[in-house]
Amino acid sequence: MTAHTGPADSSQFPAARAGPKIRGQVESPVHSAVPRHVAIIMDGNGRWAEQRGLPRLSGHREGVNAIPRVLDVLAGRGVEYLTIYAFSTENWSRPSSEVEGIVELLHETLQRDTDILNEKNVRVFHIGNAERLSQDIRKAVERIQDMTRDNTGIVLNVAFDYGGRQEILAAVRQLIRDGVPAEDVTEELFSHRLFTAHCPDPDLIIRTGGELRISNFLLWQSAYSEYFHTPTLWPDLDDAELERALDSYGNRQRRFGNITPDPGE
Ligand code: FPP
Repeated sequence: MTAHTGPADSSQFPAARAGPKIRGQVESPVHSAVPRHVAIIMDGNGRWAEQRGLPRLSGHREGVNAIPRVLDVLAGRGVEYLTIYAFSTENWSRPSSEVEGIVELLHETLQRDTDILNEKNVRVFHIGNAERLSQDIRKAVERIQDMTRDNTGIVLNVAFDYGGRQEILAAVRQLIRDGVPAEDVTEELFSHRLFTAHCPDPDLIIRTGGELRISNFLLWQSAYSEYFHTPTLWPDLDDAELERALDSYGNRQRRFGNITPDPGE
């Protein structure tokens, strides 16, 4: 195992933590018409199901079915990283039947979709904690990470049992464990101890389902992300709306705190 990058107390998956630096992490931000990294809060599965008189889990199932299509559109537009918020640290407090159903859906998806992801040249990472997942699921996560590790296309980060505050605390603890003197702590050293050490910060964060909040998602990484909100429920997000999100991003002027547009424009 090479340099440890992820939060130590949640590092169950050496494949994710020890993987080579894929493409420049913690780079100076530059704006281009296409976001390199898109992150999505996939909200609205429950309402999608309720509107149809179906159990909430059917909505989550439909939500999973939407992912390959979204991957295709984004990869086709040249996006290099997609991070999806599949299950937050706080989602454990939902009714146990729903939690168990989502966890089972994750397991099923991991076991079923490796071939499709390989065909699409997608490299998969889990970001989040693994302690509360069963041994079987941890193995399935390791397996999909290993089996896709040589893929060179879009990187898919699946945020499962992920919480931004918890991630930040884990990175702080790791810096202390690593014995880094306080005055040597830099943004770069800190970022290298996050689950997302292998990718640049998200350029565009999309939230479906109409809510206007960040819900503990990529709190550190989203400092200069652009946001796109839509009332459309996640399973209903079609290609045209996704294209609208990308076009909206392409028309933004990102200044990263400066008063003039960044030099990448
Ligand atoms: C939000 O909808 C969605 C979630 C909490 C989970 C999203 C999960 C999936 C798409 C399935 C699991 C993912 C993988 C990769 C297996 P909500 O339930 O909050 O919807 P609501 O706001 O309409 O109630």
